[in-house]
Amino acid sequence: MTVTIVGSQLGDEGKGALVDLWGGDADIVVRYQGGDNAGHTVVEGGEEYKLSLVPSGAVRDKVGVLGNGCVVNPRTLFDELDGLQERGLDPDVRVAKRAHVILPYHRRLDGIEEEVKADSGVKVGTTGRGIGPTYEDKAGRRGIRIGDLLDPEVLRDRLEYAVEQKRSLIEDVYGLEAGDECDVDALHEEFAEFGRRLEENEMVVNCSDFLHQRRQEGDSLMFEGAQGTLIDIDHGNYPYVTSSNPTAGAAATGSGVGPTVVGQGEVVGIVKAYLSRVGEGPMPTELDGTDHEESLADFIREKGGEFGTVTGRPRRIGWVDMPMLRHASRVSGFTGIAVNHLDVLAGLEEVKVGHAYELDGEEIETMPATTERWAACDPVLKEFEPWPEVDWAEVAEEGYDAIPDAAQDYLDYLSEEVGAPVYAIGVGPDRAETVELTNPFDR
Ligand code: IMP
Repeated sequence: MTVTIVGSQLGDEGKGALVDLWGGDADIVVRYQGGDNAGHTVVEGGEEYKLSLVPSGAVRDKVGVLGNGCVVNPRTLFDELDGLQERGLDPDVRVAKRAHVILPYHRRLDGIEEEVKADSGVKVGTTGRGIGPTYEDKAGRRGIRIGDLLDPEVLRDRLEYAVEQKRSLIEDVYGLEAGDECDVDALHEEFAEFGRRLEENEMVVNCSDFLHQRRQEGDSLMFEGAQGTLIDIDHGNYPYVTSSNPTAGAAATGSGVGPTVVGQGEVVGIVKAYLSRVGEGPMPTELDGTDHEESLADFIREKGGEFGTVTGRPRRIGWVDMPMLRHASRVSGFTGIAVNHLDVLAGLEEVKVGHAYELDGEEIETMPATTERWAACDPVLKEFEPWPEVDWAEVAEEGYDAIPDAAQDYLDYLSEEVGAPVYAIGVGPDRAETVELTNPFDR
């Protein structure tokens, strides 16, 4: 049995809480893409854990796997593991030998390219973690993989080739000075040491084989997508995207489990009850046009804690964008959805949804495939009856019927438009503050 969790919007939908809730029924939680750009906050028993690389499930005693589709910064990995250990946890994390390694020069180049792009007004607003340059090297067949860290000679050969190329990019193309990030000896020493540590702690796996064997033994898997559909490099609003595929198809390629296995399981889209965006790019339902909209956005931002986990940046806020959700549901084949942060909208005087777009005088219900056309869309808003503030902890305890009627109507609408039932509703940040209708592992 597998359950795949996918962000339906622009990331930060609160996937961690659901991964954590349902991950309890999985034996293994697998990340299949992305790296330490993926801020997730897991609240467990009143304790808050902020992670960017380690799979959320590792907080709950599950085996956490970073699949071959991930890009791994060993500095972050060991910082997070050490931090969890200091707080009394003993996370079991495995890393695919085929996963690519983020090196210091990737972060440097991420920063340089963003600055250059900013001068031409085409900045992506990346997290600065070196994600894009690492995936570039992967596709350019000059990447360094986790398996290479275990063999000092191979590591040196690969570094010598890659670093020369980075140095000339930094110096000859950008006219800057290369620094420590291009010191082959220092990189070799530090990263070979990471290799030793990974091996010593038996963290390195042949991911496909490992997962296959564990499935044969009857283990169930959860695939934890990072980021969201609209920042998927293929299905998102290119170029304002990350460099991997957060959508469900990548659960197969990014872990070495067949698509039939993922497809026979459940695919749950995580939806935030409003929209947030960190970074550049269009957002047709953004609340930023008038003072009134801005104060609504400020209210939602503060109440929902909409500040980047990784970067601390305030997130842009908007209403739910339905063409976006229809697209997300199609691309990943949602079998169910979970709607988070329903409590954040409580007590507002108005609740709206971008039901469709108006583009060139026509009403459309699908997102245009180019970012420029998407940016030209005006939202066709649908208004909902607002719901009052209630004691959400009590709602969480009592269950679905305790959710105010107007909020239930809102959920029905989302479910109908997306074409998938609501499996869970988040009404507060703690895992216990979730109203569960269906556990996908029981289906
Ligand atoms: P990168 O992944 O750091 O290259 O950033 C590319 C784009 O994806 C930027 O717009 C980032 O803000 C966005 N992004 C990356 N990771 C996340 C995330 O976990 N949540 C929300 N946005 C993200």
